[in-house]
Amino acid sequence: MDEPVIGPESEVPLEELLDLYGAVGWTAYTGHPEVLRKAIEGSSYVVTARMGDRLVGLARAVSDDATVCYLQDVLVHPEAQREGTGRKLVEAVLERYRSVRQKVLLTDDEKAQRAFYEALGYKEIRDFGEGTLRAFVRFD
Ligand SMILES: CC(C)(COP(=O)(O)OP(=O)(O)OC[C@H]1O[C@@H](n2cnc3c(N)ncnc32)[C@H](O)[C@@H]1OP(=O)(O)O)[C@@H](O)C(=O)NCCC(=O)NCCS
Repeated sequence: MDEPVIGPESEVPLEELLDLYGAVGWTAYTGHPEVLRKAIEGSSYVVTARMGDRLVGLARAVSDDATVCYLQDVLVHPEAQREGTGRKLVEAVLERYRSVRQKVLLTDDEKAQRAFYEALGYKEIRDFGEGTLRAFVRFD
């Protein structure tokens, strides 16, 4: 099969976003299309994977381009998973923010996601050991 084309994209049509986010079951986004649109527009960097015209993956970052880069959303259409696309999307974000030391992300506690992010050089807070780092999050 052909490889998807990976690259930055600043304006992704909302219909395509809804299809992709829907395909991985992210209803928190698809139930609020306006929030999804604003989230993409307000992101610091958006990278997509396309097979021809078809959107098959996306990763986005929120960053000050100096001290911190939050990776927020990495998703690959189920029909295109386990072919290295997720890795390439995250690598594109990491390359864009290579001068930023602190790279952070929050994700579900699932084995597959741990394996995915560890394969990309991320380490879970709990693995830094006692007395080193603590992570806090608040959902309102
Ligand atoms: C997580 C996700 C983005 C991975 O995308 P992908 O294109 O399938 O990942 P890749 O093929 O680039 O995988 C890279 C490496 O991550 C690890 N990995 C990825 N998916 C995995 C899985 N389901 N189980 C175990 N390891 C996995 C492997 O080490 C893999 O390398 P390998 O295939 O050579 O063994 C994709 O499964 C997805 O979109 N899931 C739904 C949305 C989601 O949960 N996103 C992450 C939270 S933000």
